[in-house]
Amino acid sequence: MTETIFVTGGAGFIGSAVVRLLIETTDYNVVNVDKLTYAANLSSLLPASDSPRYTLEKADICDAQAVNALFAKYQPSKVIHLAAESHVDRSIDGPAEFIQTNINGTFVLLEAALKYWKGLDDASKGLFRFLHVSTDEVYGSLGTEGYFHEEHQYQPNSPYSASKAASDHLVRAWHETFGLPTVITNCTNNYGPYQFPEKLIPVVILKILKRERIPVYGKGENIRDWLYVEDHARALWQVVNEGHLGETYCIGGECEKRNIEVVQAICNLMDELAPDAERGKARDLISFVTDRPGHDQRYAMDIGKIRQELGWSPAETFESGLRQTVSWYLENRDWWQAILDSRYAGERLGTGQKQAG
Ligand code: NAD
Ligand code: TYD
Repeated sequence: MTETIFVTGGAGFIGSAVVRLLIETTDYNVVNVDKLTYAANLSSLLPASDSPRYTLEKADICDAQAVNALFAKYQPSKVIHLAAESHVDRSIDGPAEFIQTNINGTFVLLEAALKYWKGLDDASKGLFRFLHVSTDEVYGSLGTEGYFHEEHQYQPNSPYSASKAASDHLVRAWHETFGLPTVITNCTNNYGPYQFPEKLIPVVILKILKRERIPVYGKGENIRDWLYVEDHARALWQVVNEGHLGETYCIGGECEKRNIEVVQAICNLMDELAPDAERGKARDLISFVTDRPGHDQRYAMDIGKIRQELGWSPAETFESGLRQTVSWYLENRDWWQAILDSRYAGERLGTGQKQAG
């Protein structure tokens, strides 16, 4: 019988890359459990969504009744849990949704998975896996030296990272206390096609296209370690199949860049791929703006464990991944224009002035 896998948050940026990968390269039935928040885009799932092996279930992971019913209906052998509120700036303006979905939602999902798992026969119990997808931001901020790794101390600084840290601890506890077969991944900043234009890389591309100022927070000296989203999706599939139960795997692109370097690289690519001689060079649009409150200085990941234990490593370099990403946004105007017209027009978020409480 064909096995079924749940992907929560499958209409989001990373979730849609996972769904596309699973439909293209495996025989699994894929059930996308997604509330379809502002961050969801069903058009990111084409052409996977045409497959008879793909099903969308619009559901809130905080709704225990709905989630229990989905486990009973589909009898999944694996869960890849990506559903979350994911944007740091929005967590500064309104943390409540982050607490609700990232903490309570993960709790509801764990309880439903546990109840379902306990009712399985021994063979199915042995097969079942729950993969929780988390972030390197739970580890806090690095100075100029050192790297995050699986044993690194948790020290989250934003409402987003604190809520993800809490969810990681819940997953760990459900494994240690109840024996639920879980694995956790913590990854660095993703980039690539289909990323919602609130995150740095699509923000910069679209600001340049519209010839608007490019907002660089602070001095642009903060460092992120960039991971191409399709490399990440591949890693998640490997971890859910081959990862050791109760373990954490850190995933990263081995690609540390200062924000200003990222912005300049995008400016250069835009001048090459979408030149606008009349309106000047893209880099003239760079504008340093008030910093994000609690802005973590540096993230960088040691990926030794996943490389050695599972043989995974990133395939894309930042240069190749960024070129593909910029080209994709240039070729897929309909995808992002629909978002700009209806949901998010590119205004500054996360100054802390709009705290909703
Ligand atoms: P995203 O914001 O693009 O998508 C999140 C998806 O989850 C959306 O489709 C949304 O509709 C869905 N969702 C939100 N609340 C829900 C709820 N209550 N019930 C059901 N569905 C709900 O996020 P992303 O960037 O794809 O991130 C996916 C996961 O990876 C998140 O858990 C995030 O914390 C983690 N992560 C992301 C990054 C990154 O750089 N994007 C880095 C590290 C970790
Ligand atoms: P972001 O894409 O929001 O990811 P995260 O906060 O999870 O790392 O931001 C990446 C970096 O870029 C971060 O240091 C904040 C900075 N940034 C800007 O300078 N300008 C922007 O408009 C945005 C959205 C982010």
